[in-house]
Amino acid sequence: MLQKIIITGSNGLLGQKLVKLLSSKKKYQIHALSRGENRLNNKKGYAYYSIDITDKEKLTNLIHQIQPHYIINTAAMTNVDACELHQKECDTINVDVVKRIVDICKDSNIHLIHLSTDFIFDGEKKGNYTEKDKPKPLSHYGLSKLKSENIIIKSNIKYTILRTVLVYGTVDRNNRSNIVLWVKNSIENKKKINVVTDQYRMPTYAEDLAESCLLVIKNNALGVYNVSSNELMSIYDIAKAIAKTFKLDTSYIKPIETSKLNLPAKRPYKTGFNLNKSISQLKLPSYSFTERLQVFKNQLDKD
Ligand SMILES: NC(=O)c1ccc[n+]([C@@H]2O[C@H](COP(=O)([O-])OP(=O)(O)OC[C@H]3O[C@@H](n4cnc5c(N)ncnc54)[C@H](OP(=O)(O)O)[C@@H]3O)[C@@H](O)[C@H]2O)c1
Repeated sequence: MLQKIIITGSNGLLGQKLVKLLSSKKKYQIHALSRGENRLNNKKGYAYYSIDITDKEKLTNLIHQIQPHYIINTAAMTNVDACELHQKECDTINVDVVKRIVDICKDSNIHLIHLSTDFIFDGEKKGNYTEKDKPKPLSHYGLSKLKSENIIIKSNIKYTILRTVLVYGTVDRNNRSNIVLWVKNSIENKKKINVVTDQYRMPTYAEDLAESCLLVIKNNALGVYNVSSNELMSIYDIAKAIAKTFKLDTSYIKPIETSKLNLPAKRPYKTGFNLNKSISQLKLPSYSFTERLQVFKNQLDKD
């Protein structure tokens, strides 16, 4: 039977990868929702709806009209400092919309696949976070994502929450950057960059994150899962690895401590994930950051 899937935030980094991946499979009928015009270059093989998902009535009517089997909710306010500075707007998108979607899923028996973040943790454990560890967000963004998780977990709907870390990849006609593009473009433009030495992450290739959403559907995986690469590295070392992979001059990368940057939102220091549950239950492939970075480079070279 044809499975109908709604993807919210389809103009975003993960949203675009999901539309490309899932609309290439005959089993699925894809309904992509995002703000403004469709920014994907390929507009065939799926339906696009321009919608501000904070418009409750429009969102409810649209979901009822489509009657999906799954909603993959990637839409969010994802700029951590903007969330700190505009907390109400952040809560509307990251919490209130999720509550609305959960209510609709409850009424219509829809499986919700929701994206969350390592920023629900304070980073004091120094990595290896399991799905059972107690969250303690340091930023308003982290708090809003934790609130959305809790709404879902307490709701009794069929749900899967994928927590992920520092996602990178390319996006069609979208000027939001990410760690790999920022380092690559800065050095190519001979711009020195200050990169923190005291924050540690396991970066995630957007294509792998999209594949993990497909694994959720294929394996009917329910509950909370960690999804990232398997290597915990300082962001400074991540930047150096990026420069080396793209054969760029690493001397443009300057080490700095987080406290010197004076950013509006606090960041956790070490947030690495324990991936055992995802590897065994979700069948998540285990990749190092450096091997996926090479795959990303090869893909950019081909395009
Ligand atoms: N990127 C990361 O490093 C990272 C790390 C951990 C977790 N996550 C989580 O993973 C998910 C996907 O992240 P991402 O990097 O793909 O995010 P993204 O690139 O910022 O994409 C989010 C998309 O949601 C859309 N959106 C936001 N508010 C909307 C609204 N009111 N109505 C309709 N669309 C709206 C945005 O539209 P516009 O393009 O018009 O702004 C954007 O296209 C998010 O839930 C995020 O919290 C991301």
